[in-house]
Amino acid sequence: MADGTDMVSVLVTDHEEIKEFFRQIESTSDPEERRAIADRLTAEVARHSVAEEMFLYPAARKVLPDGDALVDEEIEEHDEAERLFKRWEDMAGDDPEFLPTYQKIRDGLLHHIDEEEEPKLFPQMQAALSPEDQQDLGDKLTKAKKLAPTRPHPSMPKEPPGDMLVGVPLGVFDRVRDLMSGRPTD
Ligand SMILES: [Fe+2]
Repeated sequence: MADGTDMVSVLVTDHEEIKEFFRQIESTSDPEERRAIADRLTAEVARHSVAEEMFLYPAARKVLPDGDALVDEEIEEHDEAERLFKRWEDMAGDDPEFLPTYQKIRDGLLHHIDEEEEPKLFPQMQAALSPEDQQDLGDKLTKAKKLAPTRPHPSMPKEPPGDMLVGVPLGVFDRVRDLMSGRPTD
């Protein structure tokens, strides 16, 4: 059954990818490269968070006896991470706040990963859901993530010309959320 595409396998693979981005950010001192990796990490975490909110959390609320409390805690942590990412998105790689903000983001995500993988959420979900349901949720997660790119669209200018600017352009996090939830991005 565990062929790597059931729900928990998909989410654990995401967690490993997120940790790989940490290694990449920590292994470069080039500000531009750092910023580019930060953008990819932001898109990956946004995809992961939105996918969990769409499929994992509703299922957890339904099948786990303490599901509501667990999910409420996870969502609070997602919100905190999203606030940090939105501040971080505007920082250049050599901004004095870039690395301190990164440390906070990393610590929060490592906590999220530990908490989901052991002992609370994932093992309980595996025990509570049938193999078919775990596979079905894994397929839905994978499909939802495909709707959002891991890199910002190359033709999308980071800073539109000032005179033509109407409203505030969406950051990476918001664009990923809109793409996955089917909201218009323009
Ligand atoms: Fe997660």
